[in-house]
Amino acid sequence: MKAAVVRSFGAAPRYQEFPAPAAAGDHDMVIDVIAAGLHPRVRSQADGSHYTSTGELPLVPGIDGVGRGADGLLRYFILPDTRMGAMAEQTVIDTRRSIILSPDSDPIAVAAAMNPAMSSWIALRQRVQFRPGQNILILGATGNAGQLAVQIAKLLGAGQIIAAGRDTARLAGLPALGATGTVPLDADAGTAARRLGRATADVDVVIDYLWGQPAAATMTAVVTGRADRGKLLTWIEVGSAAGPAAPVPSAALRAARFQLIGSGQGSVSTREILAELPALAREITSGTFGIDARPTPLTQVEQAWAEAAQSTQRIVLTPRP
Ligand SMILES: NC(=O)c1ccc[n+]([C@@H]2O[C@H](COP(=O)([O-])OP(=O)(O)OC[C@H]3O[C@@H](n4cnc5c(N)ncnc54)[C@H](OP(=O)(O)O)[C@@H]3O)[C@@H](O)[C@H]2O)c1
Repeated sequence: MKAAVVRSFGAAPRYQEFPAPAAAGDHDMVIDVIAAGLHPRVRSQADGSHYTSTGELPLVPGIDGVGRGADGLLRYFILPDTRMGAMAEQTVIDTRRSIILSPDSDPIAVAAAMNPAMSSWIALRQRVQFRPGQNILILGATGNAGQLAVQIAKLLGAGQIIAAGRDTARLAGLPALGATGTVPLDADAGTAARRLGRATADVDVVIDYLWGQPAAATMTAVVTGRADRGKLLTWIEVGSAAGPAAPVPSAALRAARFQLIGSGQGSVSTREILAELPALAREITSGTFGIDARPTPLTQVEQAWAEAAQSTQRIVLTPRP
């Protein structure tokens, strides 16, 4: 069968012949893949930099997708950490890590949105006990996950939804999705931090997609800018678009009632992640969220890899266009 194949961590996957997968365990099912999202997580899987990487090659990238098995049902699936990923004509899923979609679901929208949407959905439902009326800062709100976080915060009844991001054009579109305020991060680090400090005095939860320098530069300003330093502020590290490490200022941890946690594969169990999928899939398939997806044939995987680094649209590879 044909698949996107990574043979070197230094190069983009190539469209090549790859051995067809076979079911091994009781819950395994071979499925025809219809759509697989090219998420940042997939890029880090394919270049070996993700924290779950074992360094083994060759591998077929793709951590999730939509497909159909011999039972004829349309499914969204999440793959375990495996070298047989979703970017292939066929893959093998564990049916316990899949959900059945309604037949009229749009596979492209589901494959594009589940991963980025899950980041805030699970953080707010599994890592904190988020309550309607609480206030949220989304750091890095202009990416796919950030834009969905704005919409999910609104759906979950957030009070203030403050969207902070570097791309001022995309930031300007976020009030239409539910942001109650925006903070541009396009200035120097000090100016951006001061702006954030002023805008976030009453925030309860930070969903951080950036980490790296922007998180380090803004944390003290957000903490010391609080109207009430005794009110709990939970900073949830969800992504690392700006860098994998950040020097956390000691003052941030001492100057207010502040806690720093993460949300992702491992800090949330597979069981907890799976429990959230049906409700999230229902919102996506019923059209609750705006989703900017671009279907691309799997034959063009090399070009798609180059474009994904530049594009704001979520590329979805389709092995059977
Ligand atoms: N933990 C989880 O459950 C989970 C799930 C999904 C995603 N994630 C992670 O969340 C992050 C975002 O994912 P995504 O799907 O939204 O990716 P994306 O669509 O590629 O968006 C990334 C965003 O980060 C911004 N950015 C990068 N460097 C920046 C910097 N130095 N300062 C300000 N903004 C910067 C980009 O802004 P520009 O347009 O200005 O470049 C872009 O808006 C990734 O690290 C991803 O791995 C985590």
